Amino acid sequence: MGDRKNGIEIFVQSVSDGSMSDEEVVQYLTDIFENGLEPDETVLLTEKMRDSGTVIQWPDEIGSLVVDKHSTGGVGDKVSIALAPALAACGAKVPMISGRGLGHTGGTLDKLESIPGFRTDISVEKLIEQVSRIGVAMVGQTEDLVPADRRMYALRDVSGLVASVPLITGSIISKKAAEGIRALVLDVKTGRAAFMKERASAEELARSMKNVAEGMGISTTCLITSMDHPIGHAVGNSLEIVESVEALCGRGPNDLEELVCIQGGLLLHSIGLAVDQGHGSAMILDSLYDGSAFGKFLEMVEAQGGNTSIFDSDQDLYAGLGLISPELYSTDIFSGHNGWVSDIDAISIADLCLNIGAGRTELEGSIDHAVGVVIHVGVGSPISANEIVATVYHRGGLSDDLHDIESAFIISENNQTPTSRILGVV
Ligand code: URA
Repeated sequence: MGDRKNGIEIFVQSVSDGSMSDEEVVQYLTDIFENGLEPDETVLLTEKMRDSGTVIQWPDEIGSLVVDKHSTGGVGDKVSIALAPALAACGAKVPMISGRGLGHTGGTLDKLESIPGFRTDISVEKLIEQVSRIGVAMVGQTEDLVPADRRMYALRDVSGLVASVPLITGSIISKKAAEGIRALVLDVKTGRAAFMKERASAEELARSMKNVAEGMGISTTCLITSMDHPIGHAVGNSLEIVESVEALCGRGPNDLEELVCIQGGLLLHSIGLAVDQGHGSAMILDSLYDGSAFGKFLEMVEAQGGNTSIFDSDQDLYAGLGLISPELYSTDIFSGHNGWVSDIDAISIADLCLNIGAGRTELEGSIDHAVGVVIHVGVGSPISANEIVATVYHRGGLSDDLHDIESAFIISENNQTPTSRILGVV
């Protein structure tokens, strides 16, 4: 065992200093992929990955308030964009480091970059300054944070080695730990549009990440949430900014608001700003309704170079996000018959969004921020034949994809009560 632990330490060191070739790294990762790691080995791997780069040190007066969340990714998942400013409005400090979208999963950075001028490539020094001053920053991974993960993740991606519980745990938790956070909420999704389709696998990943994060001194709660239907009504980068603004102003869809409030409540409780999760969730809800969360969002946009004047009116917002343009077409999708909406398939909607340019299939690919889908119904909505169920914003040539989006909506004769997305807590 001692030898294996020694091996992990040398492995991460050699990944970072380049003394191991790509082939050797892949061989080592394949061994972990096939044989797994013991829990204490996963902790060691994660610690060594964290220490491969800068670990942020916060000024004493705010260190105990620094929190973050991570979602394993979904369709229409804009929770972070409303949650981070809401947490800051409640007194927490949020240095949120996010990723880009890949495949059918959207990325927070892509969504934020729909805002003209918004920069996500800021330095660690600027991140510390901004979070200390206004309480929130939403940025991409910098060169100096967890360089070992950058090399390992790229090699895993091209070698089919992503779906491994210890490797995912090391990758995600090392990056969160490098932020120097005190508390973390993990939103582990399960369902047909989730990375972990089966609930048991989602729970296994959640337990592993919680165990490692807590072992590194981060107070951690994992939610298991369903990812069968898109979150909220908007899928596509600019459209999701519009919906995030709605949520930040207390007008968001119920499922989005629930995810924001529960995750925010858990974090506020973890750092002692709320007496329990319920109290914390009420604080988050208040921040959405009293304008303070939106105020923090505007401060963040300004601090990161974004054009805040687009948030002056709905007209300015749509125009500023590229949603009013002669080159952007809208096509309505209609219900075939009367009944109730019993299912909205997130995968069909995500595939359509990918086809029309809202997502990317390769890490370096470019995206079209303005295209996407707005869904006008929810699971459980009554619906009449020929009623509009969705509108697709696209650049033309949609006909081949129409069948996909039409078949995403299942209309049945029986009413279906919508259920909470939150399936459990680990
Ligand atoms: N996201 C990450 O950052 N790392 C993984 O291993 C999987 C998803």
